Amino acid sequence: MTKPQPDSLTIRQPDDWHLHLRDGAMLAAVAPETARHFGRAIIMPNLVPPVVTGAEAASYRERIRAALPPGSAFEPLMTLYLTEGTDPADVAAAHTAGIATAVKLYPAGATTNSASGVRDIEAVRPVLERMAEIGMPLCVHGEVTDPSVDIFDREAVFIDKVLKPLRKKVPDLKVVMEHITTQTAVDYVRDQKKNLAATITTHHLVINRNAILAGGIRPHYYCLPVAKRESHRLALVEAAVSGDPRFFLGTDSAPHTDPMKLQPCGCAGIFSAPVTLSCLAEVFGAALRLDKLEAFVSLNGPRFYGLPPNEARVTLRRGAPLSLPERIETGEGPVTLFDPGFPLHWHVETEAP
Ligand code: NCD
Ligand code: ZN
Repeated sequence: MTKPQPDSLTIRQPDDWHLHLRDGAMLAAVAPETARHFGRAIIMPNLVPPVVTGAEAASYRERIRAALPPGSAFEPLMTLYLTEGTDPADVAAAHTAGIATAVKLYPAGATTNSASGVRDIEAVRPVLERMAEIGMPLCVHGEVTDPSVDIFDREAVFIDKVLKPLRKKVPDLKVVMEHITTQTAVDYVRDQKKNLAATITTHHLVINRNAILAGGIRPHYYCLPVAKRESHRLALVEAAVSGDPRFFLGTDSAPHTDPMKLQPCGCAGIFSAPVTLSCLAEVFGAALRLDKLEAFVSLNGPRFYGLPPNEARVTLRRGAPLSLPERIETGEGPVTLFDPGFPLHWHVETEAP
């Protein structure tokens, strides 16, 4: 017997545990889009130049706050971009002062603006050990960058070659495997007893690689890690709707202007913040698991990060299909919204302000 799915759902306000807000005119345009629905977000530090020190994170946080609508209670949770020159004392001080929530590991060259990332994990071992001592999580872009490894295999190879050895060396380090895309990653996370969780994006729950490549090339579906085959998408959906506290939402909403996406060598990144909650309600509803949506978007993340869930509530109500713009205008140019390829019926109602 299948349970009838409700037409409305009131849940604690969600958080986004992986978000790109950029800077300047782009920040001004996209920060309100996230603040409209979400209470907090883990802010990625891959600006140019990257946000490396506590002082840089503090000033970036001020720029984010200045970009929020008046009265917004949205809280940016900052991350520091790990480099081989990162000072363990600066990281610990930023954590203690409440400036930095986590540290971000980009393997050098893995994705957009990752050139100053880590080449030799041994070089950052003192930072990781300090983080383990103070309980500060490491957010990991889990893909190897070795050009000889096929792009569809880079996550699985990263787990074997980098993540497993790293977690053996620093077992007390809390690690978030970000934007997982494979059954392999789901299985690995499920096998671990502690100190490991994973975020899953909106788009990886909705599209497989056919969306990018079948019947024409569609740059708006290109992101990193790249979407995999359908069996992997199904494994991600199963993990997300299971209620397992080790899986939670990180949208990886990553705006690039259309001219930057639509060119011979286009940027990786999908802008999903405005449509995420409506998309997820469709995904969880189709799986007959709307009762698990709150765990995925509002409860599991804060629990792993050791933070209380938000007190505010949002209500999702099923109604007529949303009419959304295809793109938003920003001071840097138009940015196309993630199109899930099906109508979105779920309207999001938030408490004032
Ligand atoms: C991100 C970006 O544009 O900053 N792009 C993406 O495809 N996800 C970088 C990242 O998080 O990998
Ligand atoms: Zn990202």
